Amino acid sequence: MSASLGQDCTPRHVAIIMDGNGRWATQRGLPRSAGHRQGVEALRRTVRAASGMGIGVLTLYSFSTENWARPQAEVRFLLELLRRFIRTDVADLHKSNVRIMIIGDRDGLETSLRSMFEEAEALTRDNTALKLVIAFNYGSRQEITRAVQALAQKVAEGRIAPADITPAVIGNHLDTAGLPDPDLLIRTGGEQRVSNYLLWQCAYTEFVFLPEYWPEFDAASLARAIDIFRARDRRFGGLKAQTA
Ligand code: FPP
Repeated sequence: MSASLGQDCTPRHVAIIMDGNGRWATQRGLPRSAGHRQGVEALRRTVRAASGMGIGVLTLYSFSTENWARPQAEVRFLLELLRRFIRTDVADLHKSNVRIMIIGDRDGLETSLRSMFEEAEALTRDNTALKLVIAFNYGSRQEITRAVQALAQKVAEGRIAPADITPAVIGNHLDTAGLPDPDLLIRTGGEQRVSNYLLWQCAYTEFVFLPEYWPEFDAASLARAIDIFRARDRRFGGLKAQTA
């Protein structure tokens, strides 16, 4: 037993790839949009469950930089779902002391969407319960590229020397600066890949792949993933702790 984080081994940071909305809908003869709609319900359940379990950070992959390649109607629908979610849920999340943060590239997004992000973040800035991090227009390689560009700019301006660039400095230039690395990454929907998600941050993250589609995910699924996490032996490249 060594996935230990606090007495009950609750992960401080859980990241989720919410996969399988489309397949869930297709299996039921419904349009993919119905799967995404149910996906929002699963997201709400998961935020409640994570808060109740004392998880500190929950990072959800809501739209990747690659998702723009989907049919225009689906992209429009996903953007509208996110807008609607912010409009309808932020007040309740604020009441529940949830802090909302959005990671990903905001350049090129519609001004109105960017304003919604900024307002949700500003309103909930001082909340101290769960940090709900929504990855939108997020791609890890792009995030790392932006960090490298910012650091190169500082070197070019003589503000830092190349030797000052350490893993910690790089981490502080990522969108996730200030957040602990994920302890646990869950992907639903049966696929076993990371899809350009938190590549730097997941250096020592435990991965749990679940067969159920995202719309089926609930508090019991989260608890099951955490049980699997708790049974893992995390060594961070070192050796298993010796028992006498
Ligand atoms: C993956 O399922 C899911 C997405 C690309 C979008 C995730 C979005 C939501 C859960 C709802 C909207 C989010 C917010 C924050 C309101 P998929 O479409 O790739 O499913 P498939 O692999 O079965 O086709």
